[in-house]
Amino acid sequence: MGIDEQIGRAARIIREGGLVAIPTETVYGLAANAWNANAVAQIFELKGRPRFDPLIVHVADPSGVAELVDSIPDQAAKLMERFWPGPLSLVMTKRASVPEIVTAGLPSVAVRCPSHPIARDLIHAAGVPLAAPSANRFGSVSPTTAKHVADQFGDKGLYILDGGSCSVGVESTVVAFTDDTPRLLRPGGITLEEIEQTIGPIRIGGTDDVRPESPGQLSRHYSPSTPLTVLDDKSLSEDGQEVGPPGRVGLISLRAPSSQAGFAAVEVLSSTGDLREAAANLFAAMRRLDSLGLDRIVARPLPEIGLGRAIMDRLRRAAAKGE
Ligand code: TXA
Ligand code: MG
Repeated sequence: MGIDEQIGRAARIIREGGLVAIPTETVYGLAANAWNANAVAQIFELKGRPRFDPLIVHVADPSGVAELVDSIPDQAAKLMERFWPGPLSLVMTKRASVPEIVTAGLPSVAVRCPSHPIARDLIHAAGVPLAAPSANRFGSVSPTTAKHVADQFGDKGLYILDGGSCSVGVESTVVAFTDDTPRLLRPGGITLEEIEQTIGPIRIGGTDDVRPESPGQLSRHYSPSTPLTVLDDKSLSEDGQEVGPPGRVGLISLRAPSSQAGFAAVEVLSSTGDLREAAANLFAAMRRLDSLGLDRIVARPLPEIGLGRAIMDRLRRAAAKGE
């Protein structure tokens, strides 16, 4: 079947209330018709995702946001103009017609217009916005290839559209417009610097509420099953060797380390130190190391600028001991 036929078939599944795994430029998503509460409920079931964790609604064109939100704050409009289609989700006051299950009962909805042509073609073909979280079991590493999705859900009869490897490789940036000042709820594919260049300074992080407002903020998330630690300078000896308990250890490093001695496997995210390339490689590298049956994975810290902020966020959450 050619890709157009596959998109046609996927659109039928969506209209009939089923689920489809879709490529986006960030990670693969597990999509359902956002207007169909029963279809959306199946997403939570298949993912094993708690119902208090709201979903992002995907639209084919920026104009699609109008049927989902009450009004668009000026600064949100500026961000849409500059970064859509692209890896940015905006949280705004929802319309009453958006089902509660999509937003986990919150009065706001997260909306994004992805840039991946297959995602946009599918939304056009289905004729409805798509509610879609990342297509992985809750808490585990997000998929950046169709095979990653098939490895987790292939035996469940899930229809998967293959759009190749995700070019961005980390999830969208989530910015909330639910009070006076915009807030960064999750660092992602659009950098904080780019956002602040467009609308000025924003607040960082959620509230101190017990209930996380953006459960991408749950401290343990994006986790491989092998224990992972983010190194600090103290855990490296003078010649750059890692100092820690013995065992088979895998290393995640931005650039190639001066010596690979002592490591059972090394994943270099970008030999030239390019953070964009590193983000695109991160989740696949975590999965490869996770498949080797290692005792531990250690990650060298990256500079927390640009996309380094999203990469470090995912590494820290992968390393966190509990929620
Ligand atoms: O790049 C992405 O965003 C991918 C692709 C598939 O589009 N999707 C994704 O979805 O990462 P998910 O469900 O894994 O993460 C959605 C994040 C969560 O942290 C969720 O809590 C937050 O967005 N979110 C969704 N709706 C929200 C709302 N109304 N208020 C605050 N946070 C919200
Ligand atoms: Mg996710």
